[in-house]
Amino acid sequence: MAVSKTIFGEIDSEPVYLYKISNKNQTSISVLSYAATWQNFEVIEDGKKHSLIEHFDNLDDYIKTPYQVGKTIGRVAGRIKDASFQINGVDYQMEQNEGENLLHGGSHGLQYQNFESKKVAENAVLLSHTVHGEDGFLGTLKVNVEYILNDDNEVSIIYSAETDHDTLFNPTCHVYFDVDDENIRQQKLQINANSFLKVDDGKIPTGDFLATDGPYDFKKAKTIGQGLDELALLNKYEYDDAFVVDNRAATIKSDKRAVDLYTDRNGMVIFTADPKDTEKTEKHEYSSLAMEMQTLPDAVHHLGFGDIVLGKGQKVVYTNKYKYRRFE
Ligand code: GLA
Repeated sequence: MAVSKTIFGEIDSEPVYLYKISNKNQTSISVLSYAATWQNFEVIEDGKKHSLIEHFDNLDDYIKTPYQVGKTIGRVAGRIKDASFQINGVDYQMEQNEGENLLHGGSHGLQYQNFESKKVAENAVLLSHTVHGEDGFLGTLKVNVEYILNDDNEVSIIYSAETDHDTLFNPTCHVYFDVDDENIRQQKLQINANSFLKVDDGKIPTGDFLATDGPYDFKKAKTIGQGLDELALLNKYEYDDAFVVDNRAATIKSDKRAVDLYTDRNGMVIFTADPKDTEKTEKHEYSSLAMEMQTLPDAVHHLGFGDIVLGKGQKVVYTNKYKYRRFE
């Protein structure tokens, strides 16, 4: 196990660091202090390197991308209807950054922050950022994001937070998987979900759960291409949907390798895109699949979606895991 630290770029006269954690199998993850970004997930098979996630090699692309590539998004990752909510009888009105709604926590969200960072073990890096009542949230929120890689090729991302004022906390990693050199349509997806969320035209959950039938049925592994073909029959051309999952959330795989996803939360949003080419995304030609494990979007408005309220004086810890496997 080893951690290296280099300078990746500079923002507001502050260095942006890249940490690379490598294990005994030469599997490595790279992490940026900017947006606590998961920058790369590299494996070596028969002497050949493969990157399993979409990534950029320079900071400018991370600053400019609207696709949130690999970033920690939040404090609340998913959409909040009308950008408003109540906690303990107190009304909060946030900025509306997508129509009348709020997406990804606001313009001072974690995805725009250069975190403090340090190596905390031979296989772990800790990123920390303190938010002082931004975007309509009140109080001070201390956020830690820890990345750990073990010798079983398992990546853990541990989110923890504490606050001195009632707030919400539901961040995730906006990582896009592309686990092989082949087209993403050929890669297989399996999601352990019997239901997913019905949404309105603004992609806001209505409160209803739908059965994972047809294009949304990934109970058995099927190719993303098959899913997209089934979607097209419904005149839909992208995935941007929240599935109800349990701990063993999902797998994305080719015939050579797989990544298994685990979470202690109850939801996973999948989103198809080509984060390097917006024109291709608009033509529904996708390079990768974002898999964002989180408590279900708009939980603050729906009983039964999970609890994302972090009360004054409370602490919370969430863990998402990603395990690489190779097929021999
Ligand atoms: C999430 C959302 C998508 C899109 C992406 C990229 O996945 O659900 O609609 O906004 O983030 O930002």
